[in-house]
Amino acid sequence: MTFRQTSQFALSLSLALGACTNGNSSSPAETPTVVNTAEKSESKGVGPVTDIDVGSLDQGLVAKGKGIFESRCVACHKLNEKYVGPSLKGVTQRREAEWIMNMILNPSEMLQKDPVAKQLLAENLTQMANTSTTQDEARAILEYLRTIE
Ligand code: HEC
Repeated sequence: MTFRQTSQFALSLSLALGACTNGNSSSPAETPTVVNTAEKSESKGVGPVTDIDVGSLDQGLVAKGKGIFESRCVACHKLNEKYVGPSLKGVTQRREAEWIMNMILNPSEMLQKDPVAKQLLAENLTQMANTSTTQDEARAILEYLRTIE
């Protein structure tokens, strides 16, 4: 690092710390963390999927995902209304692709650690089941969910 880079780094660090202090102006104990689960969240969740590139829609994958969804997920999910779990209509607009796959692959840890998943559990009062779905199958389900807007 040159001197110039170092001082820029120090400046951005102090700006970041400043922003952090401002954001915490009210005591955390008085402000319980309520996550708005209807808004697009930036969390990628907790689990095996850290970075996927969804690309353009793959119809073969959509068909595969639809089949898996109809056999493993419809017991709890409908597309247009809340059932045991939330309606999955538009879910790819409110969650990151990685988050959705981690929710499918790793629901119990997600429900313990991810703020959005924890909030969904508080609203739905039932735990999403582990469906023994593989990563390839979860990817196919994600492709199908992209068509449900
Ligand atoms: C036993 C019921 C059950 C089954 C089976 C189930 N889910 Fe869920 N799912 C839930 C519940 C309940 C939630 C909300 C979180 C919670 O309370 O655990 C949820 C949450 C989700 C979410 C997040 C929704 C949102 O609004 O962000 C996605 C995505 C999801 N499930 C996909 C699936 C898929 C795909 C399958 C099939 C592989 C599946 N689920 C199977 C009950 C279930």
